[in-house]
Amino acid sequence: MGRMKLGVLISGRGSNLQALIHACSDNNDPAEIALVLSNRPDAKGLERAAAAGIATQVIDHKSFDDRDAFDSALSDALSAADVALVCLAGFMRLLQESFVERWHDRVINIHPSLLPAFRGLNVHERVIQSGVRITGCSVHMVRSSVDDGPIIIQAAVPVLPQDTAHDLAARVLKAEHKIYPEAVRLIAQGRIKLHSGRVDFVDSMELGALLINPPLGRN
Ligand code: GRF
Repeated sequence: MGRMKLGVLISGRGSNLQALIHACSDNNDPAEIALVLSNRPDAKGLERAAAAGIATQVIDHKSFDDRDAFDSALSDALSAADVALVCLAGFMRLLQESFVERWHDRVINIHPSLLPAFRGLNVHERVIQSGVRITGCSVHMVRSSVDDGPIIIQAAVPVLPQDTAHDLAARVLKAEHKIYPEAVRLIAQGRIKLHSGRVDFVDSMELGALLINPPLGRN
């Protein structure tokens, strides 16, 4: 079987994209990036993709009259690149229901909190403000409501007493870079299945007191 083709959607910095590029640069990885799409022409992630020799395309939402037309253009570009799995990586546009339906169970997102807590924007500020002691990040299947959908993998990260939102974001980001490629690997290897609206694992996992659930790197 060939490698699973990914389409990565970005709007900015692209550090999660970089983590995916790194993982896929190993020819034995079960996934490869076929296309990086950005809605912003100035997204730094476009440079990262180009540097890795990956095809890029800008589809600027501002040049479309409505959201559906923008989403259709995205879908068409992804289909043209023969993409099997769409990875949102700091993509700052809300995708409409029609897009999510067309790509049902084939769109995943990374969010910098332990979902379903702290959906939406300004997560780290709100985490600190709330006083929770543990936060983290989640990779989940995308549904049409924001930061919603079956959870694939999470990592827990401590909130330290003197943390600023900036400190916390940096600590969580490191965990993001570990779990996003791992989630892609689990999917590309056919090791997850959806059951009653949640993600189950095909093989049994040892779920000890590990901070990443499921643990990384099991084959
Ligand atoms: C990450 O924190 C991700 O969880 C969120 O947006 C940020 C994107 O960062 N969805 P980057 O562009 O991948 O560096």
